[in-house]
Amino acid sequence: MRVFVTGATGFIGSAIVQELISAGHQVVGLARSDAAAESLIAAGAQEHRGDLEDLESLRSGAAMSDGVAHTAFIHDFSKFKANCETDRRAIEALGSALAGSDRPLVITSGTGLLPQGRLAEEHVPASSAIPRVASEEAADSVAARGVRVSVVRLPPSVHGDGDHGFVPILIGFARDKGVSAYVGGGLNRWPAVHRLDAAHLYRLALESAPAGMVLHAVGEEGVPTREIAEVIGRHLDLPVVSVEPDAASDHFGWIGAFFALDVPASSALTRERMGWQPTHPGLIADLDVGHCFQLQAVAR
Ligand SMILES: NC(=O)c1ccc[n+]([C@@H]2O[C@H](COP(=O)([O-])OP(=O)(O)OC[C@H]3O[C@@H](n4cnc5c(N)ncnc54)[C@H](OP(=O)(O)O)[C@@H]3O)[C@@H](O)[C@H]2O)c1
Repeated sequence: MRVFVTGATGFIGSAIVQELISAGHQVVGLARSDAAAESLIAAGAQEHRGDLEDLESLRSGAAMSDGVAHTAFIHDFSKFKANCETDRRAIEALGSALAGSDRPLVITSGTGLLPQGRLAEEHVPASSAIPRVASEEAADSVAARGVRVSVVRLPPSVHGDGDHGFVPILIGFARDKGVSAYVGGGLNRWPAVHRLDAAHLYRLALESAPAGMVLHAVGEEGVPTREIAEVIGRHLDLPVVSVEPDAASDHFGWIGAFFALDVPASSALTRERMGWQPTHPGLIADLDVGHCFQLQAVAR
């Protein structure tokens, strides 16, 4: 299969590129710079110039492919709502090039959009109160136009070598504040997955997911956030402390409310339907390897 991958130079997209090439697929990656194009070529992929805001570049990339994995996203959280709307338009553009064919489109969403406090399964709808719901709404819209679209929901921690997501941001806060904190009792849970396991699920979805399928790339249903704070404290040799829920935003800034969420998610249906079995280390074991502590967190 010749697969057009958006976000192919990113943390997760680059793992998908390797996963696809290793399985014998051809990859064309969306590149918005010379540096991105060079890294795609070095990875064994081809490059297609474009940008999420250049819808024609997305349509043409999808039109010349046998399938699309869409992982690009503009991670400027100061314009989060606008960036979610950009994602909606991008998915609609990609879908418009695939409508009426059996060529798959796999898009990216998050388990963080699901209701709190109970184990969320794949059939649970994303909350309409969270702007990122735009991605799943766009998937529904292109499905209605005859696109074989599936949704991969990623957990708040997709970890592995090169992680610059939420956990490295928490590591940055611990360094700055001199303590590694959790919120309240720290029993609230974050699901997690290794990026290589997530990449494998994207490939399975491209190869065989039927239209409308929602998949959970969840390797661990819920890691208590206190355990995340403890491993950070251990590696940085810092005290591990509780922060009261109403002080979480003062301590952690914008990520405080997110770190306080209890959003466990199941992948039982995904495993059963796709034969997906995560094989890579869990979040705490992966953090214990230490690579996250050598990286400077990227504010996103
Ligand atoms: N990492 C996580 O823990 C996590 C958790 C939940 C959900 N997700 C979601 O998973 C997806 C992939 O995340 P990631 O961690 O791999 O992200 P990432 O490492 O930040 O990579 C983002 C990718 O999007 C591309 N991109 C950004 N702006 C673009 C634009 N205007 N036009 C074209 N491409 C653009 C980047 O290209 P350049 O190389 O040119 O910058 C890069 O390839 C995203 O939808 C993200 O929200 C991630």
